[in-house]
Amino acid sequence: MFWERPQARRVPASRRSLLLLQCLLLLRAPAGLLGDQTRRVSLEVIPWRTALPQNLLHIRAVGANSTIHYLWSSLGPPAVLFVATDTPHSVLSVNWSCLAVLPAESVRFSSALIFPRLFEFDSTNSSEVKDGSPGKPYPPYLLANFSWDDINSTLDPTKLSATLQGCPSKDPSGAFSNGSLAFKVQAFSSSGRPDHLPRLLHTADTSQLEVVLSGVVPQGNHSLFGLEVATPALDSECPQLKKLDSIDDEYCPSVFQLDQLLWRSPPEGFLQWRPIAFSQKQPAWKTALPCRVSPPAPTLSTLLPQLPIVRAFFGPSVNFCTFNLTFGDSTGPAYEDQRYLSWSAVLGIGIPTMDSFSPLVLGIMAVVMGLPALLLVGGGLSLLLIRHRRYSEYEPIN
Ligand SMILES: *[C@@H]1O[C@H](CO)[C@@H](O)[C@H](O)[C@H]1NC(C)=O
Ligand SMILES: *[C@@H]1O[C@H](CO)[C@@H](O)[C@H](O)[C@H]1NC(C)=O
Ligand SMILES: *[C@@H]1O[C@H](CO)[C@@H](O)[C@H](O)[C@H]1NC(C)=O
Ligand SMILES: *[C@@H]1O[C@H](CO)[C@@H](O)[C@H](O)[C@H]1NC(C)=O
Ligand SMILES: *[C@@H]1O[C@H](CO)[C@@H](O)[C@H](O)[C@H]1NC(C)=O
Ligand SMILES: *[C@@H]1O[C@H](CO)[C@@H](O)[C@H](O)[C@H]1NC(C)=O
Repeated sequence: MFWERPQARRVPASRRSLLLLQCLLLLRAPAGLLGDQTRRVSLEVIPWRTALPQNLLHIRAVGANSTIHYLWSSLGPPAVLFVATDTPHSVLSVNWSCLAVLPAESVRFSSALIFPRLFEFDSTNSSEVKDGSPGKPYPPYLLANFSWDDINSTLDPTKLSATLQGCPSKDPSGAFSNGSLAFKVQAFSSSGRPDHLPRLLHTADTSQLEVVLSGVVPQGNHSLFGLEVATPALDSECPQLKKLDSIDDEYCPSVFQLDQLLWRSPPEGFLQWRPIAFSQKQPAWKTALPCRVSPPAPTLSTLLPQLPIVRAFFGPSVNFCTFNLTFGDSTGPAYEDQRYLSWSAVLGIGIPTMDSFSPLVLGIMAVVMGLPALLLVGGGLSLLLIRHRRYSEYEPIN
């Protein structure tokens, strides 16, 4: 089980201490591929050819020797293109036919995330819910057919954030008459951790996305929602999904796992999230929902809507992989309780950032075990760990 409610948490003690040690041994400051600790981040809304609200948001994060560009757009379905370059002077060039980051030879990594469909499932029929299926699907909401508010009005240059918020252009059932779907985006100039749950660690090489479904009338009792995510198949390969056991500390009590999507190996880009979503504006563990993810699989491009910015950058022949996120299960808290759902992830360049121990946990361990004893045990077990280590996300790439 990848997510456990607080009252039902159990991880074998032996496995736990191994995890603790593993984390201790690998304790180090998070570092990205580009390795800049701080960046100058700027946000600008770029004019596009249509007269509609121009939702093309360029986030530029400049470090000493590198630049990361994030381009969020609502042309077609919501999407983000992210490009890392090894110069602080790279620029994004957008014209009517072409989208490029220049100079082209400075590009070290690029990928994109696209959100084509919002799913809703009826989880009340137990014979439909078995085998991990979320239930009988209602017709999906196509996000390419949404109309999106002007992102300019949500731009916050101090918080380095902006929100893409929309609802279906045609809404015959009125489900969205008092509701919306929002993609809240935030970039960071340095490392840290937000105050609100799930308190994902971020660095200057990452940005955060929070998807919020709020006020939308569900179509049935105990509806589950899901989100389809597409990404270009780089070198004809889908990114890999890795589930990482994490430690139980004060930042993320009761959630022992970090899910991550890794582009290339060793990773050059990643998406990272806790396998939970929140069903209340004030996030609380008691009412959290499990978030399940399906492994990314190649998909036919014809099944995807027009993807203007992604095709403009990667060219017309790029292939795609998709995966599904589903929030909630047939029992327990549900979206309908508060008509609210929030899921957060961190999108980054380079090797995924890793949770280390909080000072409190480190302090307790130092007191309880004593540092010499700790080192002794650590030395003995590191041999064991080396033998047991499968693929490790913690390895520096050089
Ligand atoms: C940037 O590049 C210069 C020259 O290549 C190097 O001396 C410097 O250490 C680099 N700075 C960082 C932060 O990587
Ligand atoms: C658009 O940009 C591309 C690449 O920067 C350039 O080759 C092309 O001439 C530009 N087209 C127009 C109409 O400016
Ligand atoms: C539950 O699903 C099964 C299989 O699809 C179907 O045969 C049955 O009629 C459904 N029950 C209800 C109450 O909808
Ligand atoms: C719309 O939402 C507000 C705030 O959540 C609520 O007070 C109001 O009753 C809702 N209206 C309808 C028609 O559902
Ligand atoms: C939802 O539940 C209520 C009460 O249990 C029931 O009357 C209603 O028919 C259900 N609605 C649907 C769409 O299943
Ligand atoms: C995502 O879910 C939808 C609806 O249930 C399904 O049609 C689609 O095949 C799923 N995609 C993947 C990659 O699992």
